[in-house]
Amino acid sequence: MKILQINASIRADAANSTRVANAIVARLKEKTPAAAVELRDLGADPHPVLDGAALGALFTPAEQRSAEQAARVALDDAEIARLQAADVIVLGVPMYNFGVPVQLKAWIDAVARAGVTFRYTENGPVGLLQGKKVYVALARGGVYRDTPADSQTPYLKSVLGFLGLTDVSFIHAEGLNMGPDAAAKGFAEADSQIAALI
Ligand SMILES: Cc1cc2nc3c(=O)[nH]c(=O)nc-3n(C[C@H](O)[C@H](O)[C@H](O)COP(=O)(O)O)c2cc1C
Repeated sequence: MKILQINASIRADAANSTRVANAIVARLKEKTPAAAVELRDLGADPHPVLDGAALGALFTPAEQRSAEQAARVALDDAEIARLQAADVIVLGVPMYNFGVPVQLKAWIDAVARAGVTFRYTENGPVGLLQGKKVYVALARGGVYRDTPADSQTPYLKSVLGFLGLTDVSFIHAEGLNMGPDAAAKGFAEADSQIAALI
């Protein structure tokens, strides 16, 4: 079993989402000790944003790409290859200003590629990343679970599902900036969700 852990926080070792993602991976390793873990830290080593030059490179036939364009597409290819190789994906996702970190959005823009991770058919889009399990560790300062202010969960469900990643479990660590008691409760609730799921 190959586990790909993707940390999206910009807060390095202080990151709460990484703490929860680490707990998920530890639990998976407990259950399957032979599992291999690959870590992709988007905060420490961000993927470049999708801009006009990158889009131009993607739409240029491979044999006509400049060295610069080929290098840019190769960065996306590497993210896609990592994802394709994984059986289980663990995403550590903080809430920043009601959304996902820009670093995670850049990664999503890198891995959503027509003909590779999804394709359109006469019946609509089909996700091409099949048979993988995804855990998403959500860390928030406030409490938004199951409210309209939680835009992250429906967004991630939609975009992951679009790629074929339909088996997604969300683990919420919330209220982390609402004082020490609320934070302890938020982490404890995340721990019980992990114990119940894995
Ligand atoms: C730039 C920034 C924006 C934030 N925006 C929100 C927000 O919109 N809602 C919220 O509940 N918490 C917000 N927070 C608090 C974080 O969600 C909380 O600190 C969480 O633990 C961050 O995860 P991390 O430690 O993995 O980076 C924000 C924190 C930062 C640094």
